[in-house]
Formats: sequence, structure tokens, C-alpha cells
Amino acid sequence: MMKSDMRPTISRRAAIERSILAATTLAVPGALAEQLATASMVEGPFYPDKLPLDTDNDLIILNDSLTPAVGEITHLSGRVLTTAGSPMRNVTVEIWQVDHQGIYLHSGDKEQERRDANFQSYGRFLTDTQGRYYFRTIKPVAYGDGRIRRTPHIHIAVSRGDKRLLTTQLLVNGVEQNQTDMLFKRIKDPKAQATVLGDFSPLPGSKLGELQVNHDLIIGQTVAEMDDGSLRALGVSIA
Ligand SMILES: [Fe+2]
Repeated sequence: MMKSDMRPTISRRAAIERSILAATTLAVPGALAEQLATASMVEGPFYPDKLPLDTDNDLIILNDSLTPAVGEITHLSGRVLTTAGSPMRNVTVEIWQVDHQGIYLHSGDKEQERRDANFQSYGRFLTDTQGRYYFRTIKPVAYGDGRIRRTPHIHIAVSRGDKRLLTTQLLVNGVEQNQTDMLFKRIKDPKAQATVLGDFSPLPGSKLGELQVNHDLIIGQTVAEMDDGSLRALGVSIA
């Protein structure tokens, strides 16, 4: 009974995922112009010290729970590319972020008992043959106070196996607090700053006010993917 009640939701979610991935493909630029690598940002202290039981790419629903996380539902998608524009397949994209109240899933973050137990807080996804990834999560919120106050952001890590290729964060474009954020200010070049800003816009046709953001992750210019899927940096295999 409950399963059949859930079915429309699940198939609708799958349809959204399909349409977003399709749109992502269409966004591939025609020319293989060299692209600026996504600026790296620090990992921070709150990569989960104990991963949640569910680590899939849907952070809104834990396992088969019926209660979704609180927050503005956001469909985050994009591709992992080399600076030459080649897709990087079979790389792991991880994200982690605070819940709607600004609390991380981490024993070192206070008020764990107040944390939204329905929010998965962390997820991972293996890119497909076109380098695409997809997550359903919540729009990030600001957290902290005093010196460690942070502008809203989603932590992102990209790895090939256990080799970390990129550690960065995704900020919400247009948020005033970005300009006073300690870590964002470390990125001096406005063009590099733009590589960590995402446009969160309304998901067309959503009656629930869902958002979407498309954000490509460009892996530094020394990394290239070979035909056999291995990675090479300056002629040296790092895979
Ligand atoms: Fe953070």
C-alpha cells in the first residue's frame, strides 16, 4: 500500500533526473575551448566522520523513509570535465552540507540532537559516460557566528578511486554574504571566483518551488583522460 503510494513520487523524481541529465547534455559547448579549472577551496573540518547509512545521490530521502528533509529542494547537476572539455567518466562526486538549520552531520558540530534526522547531509555519485552527475538536495544556508560565519555553500569533492582530484565548494550566486566570506575572499581572480558560483533558479513546471542548478566541475589543466579511462598529468599516469 505504502509502496504504491510512493510510486508516483519516485517515477516523477526519475523523470526530473532524466530531463535534467538530458538538458545537461545539450549544454555541451560546440567548440573545445580551454576552460578555466574550477577553483579549489578547503575541505573544512566537517566531512562526515561517520558516513550516513544511506549515501546515494538523493539527500532529501533517507533510505525508504516517507518523511523528506526540510529545506528548499534543489536539483544539482553538471559534468566533470577536463579543461579541454573532455568528459571524465567513472569519477566519484561527493557532496556534503549543513541541514536547513546550519548543522553538519559530524560529531564535532554541536547540537547533533537538533539536526534534521531526515536530511542525509552527504551523498555520492559516479559520473556516467558523459561525465554527468546529479544530486537532489536542499539549497544551502549560512551557518556559524563571529569569525567562522560562512556564506551558504555545498562542499564538493571529486575523486578517481581513492585519488582526490578536486576539493571545492559551490556557493549561491548573488548572495551578498559571499563578498564578506573569508574563504571566498581567498579567491582573488573574479574569473576564478565565478567557477565556484552556481545560479540557483526555479525548476520549470515545479509546483513545489523546487530549484535547479547546473554546475560543471573542471579538473585542473594538467589532468587528461586517456582512451582507456586512465588519467595522465604532464605525461605521467596518476590513475
Ligand atoms: Fe562548510
